[in-house]
Amino acid sequence: MNDLLHGQKTGSTGPVECLGQPFPSEHARREHFTKLLAEKLKDPAFRKIEGFPQGTDEAILAMSDPPYYTACPNPFLEDFVRHYGKPYDPSVKYSREPQTIDVSVGKTDPLYKAHSYHTKVPHLAIVPSILHYTEPGDIVLDGFGGSGMTGVAAQWCGSAPSAYRHELETEWKKQGKAAPKWGSRRVILNDLSPAATFIAANYNLPFDIEAFAKAGQALLKEVEREIGWMYETIHTDGKTKGLIEYTVWSQIYTCPECTGEVNFLDEALDEESKRVRESFPCPHCATELTKQRMECLFVSQIDPATGEAIKTPKRKPVLISYRVGKSRHEKSPDKSDLDVLEKIEKMGIPSDLPTMVLPTMHMTHERARMDYSGITHMHHFFLPRAAFAMSLLWRKAIEVPSQIHSYLSSNHKDQRGLDKSDPVLVAKAKDRWYVPDPNKAQDLEKKREKALLKEFETYRSFAGRKIKESRLEVLRAGFRAAWAAKDYKTIIGIANKLPEETLQEGEKLLTLYDLALTRTEDGL
Ligand SMILES: C[S@@+](CC[C@H](N)C(=O)[O-])C[C@H]1O[C@@H](n2cnc3c(N)ncnc32)[C@H](O)[C@@H]1O
Repeated sequence: MNDLLHGQKTGSTGPVECLGQPFPSEHARREHFTKLLAEKLKDPAFRKIEGFPQGTDEAILAMSDPPYYTACPNPFLEDFVRHYGKPYDPSVKYSREPQTIDVSVGKTDPLYKAHSYHTKVPHLAIVPSILHYTEPGDIVLDGFGGSGMTGVAAQWCGSAPSAYRHELETEWKKQGKAAPKWGSRRVILNDLSPAATFIAANYNLPFDIEAFAKAGQALLKEVEREIGWMYETIHTDGKTKGLIEYTVWSQIYTCPECTGEVNFLDEALDEESKRVRESFPCPHCATELTKQRMECLFVSQIDPATGEAIKTPKRKPVLISYRVGKSRHEKSPDKSDLDVLEKIEKMGIPSDLPTMVLPTMHMTHERARMDYSGITHMHHFFLPRAAFAMSLLWRKAIEVPSQIHSYLSSNHKDQRGLDKSDPVLVAKAKDRWYVPDPNKAQDLEKKREKALLKEFETYRSFAGRKIKESRLEVLRAGFRAAWAAKDYKTIIGIANKLPEETLQEGEKLLTLYDLALTRTEDGL
């Protein structure tokens, strides 16, 4: 549900009004309604509503922002309608001609692209209907709301830029229609899927845009510092570094006549029209081929996450689109690009990438047989580079934000010196900061710690003189564990093999190294 006409900001600190009740702050409003929702969740009859999500009370409460958004049937819906709705009055005539217009809207708008969802409709395709059938302040119901674009459209009716208003009014005038009444409408968005309602809520509820942009930029910067090298390519001038925007991979097939390998895009793509040709000659025996005539080539390998033998379609990178400064370029992958991809692949699976089996679902097991393309587990959706980027983004996003980190470190003795992702700190921070999925976070942390320590073992057993490539968080986890076990020898041994700048960069590493030296000298 959105209630934006009252100008409430989720991030604001002053007094707010919600469903007719005053609250000293948004925090107080949320606390009040969360308590009511928690009580409601204890009611077995409430949980028996058809389609009720399979989630613990804690998980539902952590996702929700009541009364506006609940990750389950919304028990405040009636209050919302009672408060904002207008009782039916037979003396007020409502009549509209059916709207018969063709709607054609692109899917490139940044608002549309902010979060994907299947069958997602651009908000600008919905706006004319809302303007046509409703008036400002009316309640619009979308019972199958998906990612909540009807909510975005309803808000747009109140915030559309003047150029858009002018264009629409001119068009309506041509059709002999009066100008619409601009102004936001209130919306009720419903969906069976908690993922959909979560996306919809985040699309529609107000938040601190500046803080979000700042946090997002900081996060991207950190990720770029750690894995930016994975997205670098050398410009065609042979020296300038470019930043990869995307890489096109092609599936490899075999020719039914000569069994030779056919790189589909290399052979079928018409460079000029950028379209795929219906038929094309085999590069080996010149037989005329179509996609249907060829067989997909699979590679058998051991899945590093599960240890099971799997078959995945053979793919090759065929095109890199990249940026140098503000200009965009394209190139075929060269040797150094292929070397980078090989190096990433050899790094295995990032420790915290979800690796669970895909649950049996209509979209994955019936409508599409994803197992035919070798996708049976969550991590199969990602090629190695994207897997590293996604898992690192996730890891950084659940880390305790710096401000909270320094607040807790300076105000709580027991949390001093703890790493931002330390489970103790994360748990403490949850009372003060929204950290996604608290139920899973600790398990994930444990799993992650275990994986980091496993990776640390490879540094420990490294026989060479210098460890040239290492990951800071692996070193941090390893040093922390070694420190707890009073294994100062390991800390000193590894620190001596690390490049000076790595030690300097990981402030905590340097501290533990210094302390380890002191302890050893003191004979402790
Ligand atoms: C076509 S999609 C809507 C997409 C939406 N227009 C958007 O822009 O994101 C239909 C939605 O209906 C939901 N749905 C299917 N059956 C439902 C039911 N019985 N009750 C509520 N929602 C349901 C699906 O989860 C899906 O998100």
